[in-house]
Amino acid sequence: MGLAINISKHKNEGGTKLESCIERIKNDIENVTRITATPNMGCTRFSYSKEDSEVREYLIKEMKDLGLSIKVDGVGNIRAKYIDNNEGKPSIMMGSHIDTVANGGKFDGLTGVVTALEVIRVIKENNVKINNPIELIAFAEEEGSNFGSTMVGSKILTGAYKLEDLKKIKNDDGISAYQVMKDFGLDVDNVENEVLKKEEVKAMVELHVEQGGILDSEQISIGIVQAIVGMKTYKVKLKGVSNHAGSTPMYLRKDPMVGAAEIIIHMEKAAKEKALKDTVATVGKIHCQPNGSNVIPGQIEFNVDIRDVETEGMEIVARELISKTKEVAEKRGLEYKVDLIGESECVKLSSKIINIIEDTALENKYNFIKMNSGAVHDSAMLPGITDVGMIFVPSINGLSHCPQELTKFEDIKLGCDLLLKTVIKLANE
Ligand code: GLV
Ligand code: MN
Ligand code: MN
Repeated sequence: MGLAINISKHKNEGGTKLESCIERIKNDIENVTRITATPNMGCTRFSYSKEDSEVREYLIKEMKDLGLSIKVDGVGNIRAKYIDNNEGKPSIMMGSHIDTVANGGKFDGLTGVVTALEVIRVIKENNVKINNPIELIAFAEEEGSNFGSTMVGSKILTGAYKLEDLKKIKNDDGISAYQVMKDFGLDVDNVENEVLKKEEVKAMVELHVEQGGILDSEQISIGIVQAIVGMKTYKVKLKGVSNHAGSTPMYLRKDPMVGAAEIIIHMEKAAKEKALKDTVATVGKIHCQPNGSNVIPGQIEFNVDIRDVETEGMEIVARELISKTKEVAEKRGLEYKVDLIGESECVKLSSKIINIIEDTALENKYNFIKMNSGAVHDSAMLPGITDVGMIFVPSINGLSHCPQELTKFEDIKLGCDLLLKTVIKLANE
């Protein structure tokens, strides 16, 4: 995916005065990642789960110890402000998400939250003068692990999703997001009164692990993000006739599994051969009913995740999905349904923030490249409201959304120092 643009390398000759503490960052990451629903099989921390409650308790305690003013909104986003003689002014926001995919890694999302916490610690203990409050945001339900739609917390925060949308999106048990959030104790009916206003925020900077292999292969510690891919997620349902696997001859079957196989192969072909250079399409979730080895399935459901930095690339694959599903279903006598369950647009990040991050990296002699993001991020929802920037740190071997996800703590520290210096500049310009 044209993720590396205009690679300009800068040698890091080190040396900073105001700096983050790697041990505290490490401690936060280790404490949080001990809380997982899948011990020894990566981090599983879905929003609104028992593990989510425990992690919230840990983070809120850390935030309280720093004297932050804390608010949890109706979707579960935690907003924690460090105010220092600047009350009423718009915040400089930092942060990321605290949920994970199933069997995910330690660093996705959490790195941006704990580095934001560390930035506030350093500012506070050094009495750094700031003209704007510094706000840490820990977003809920970024991964789409519960309801199949990504960035639900930031979609609600920015008004892209309304209360009604939470009533429509459902988890695999058919329970709405609205109900799940209510059962978690959130004041979900209030979400539309809590939409982030332009006057509340001056800028947003998110630090995140790259989740791809460009920085690691280039041996560069920092990526400055220019654009974030757009994404469309579809749910496809194919209904056939469940029957005996032995006594039903091949010509008498209406098998939705083989229909799904045809469509999935076509998705790969469409992304590789029909769409644009950087378009990607993935089927990573599939549900078979009744799921027995000697039973022809009655129903298959699968999700298709389509992404590109160009809208056109996504649209080509989406059109292919719809036409191929119709063709396959008609040919095989299957009932079918294709629903768009989540989408976000490709976004270009603020050139003002990119320049500030770049100048700060140059002043401090940090190695960096400018690049695009193939993963989506909560930050992608904010550009209509404020100036947004993102800092990437390397993912070893480009692995992410898996237990092997790894980022060196030295790189996280560098990213955190860059975030710290950028935020201080933004709070004083
Ligand atoms: C979120 O991590 C995504 O890119 O799917
Ligand atoms: Mn993430
Ligand atoms: Mn993720």
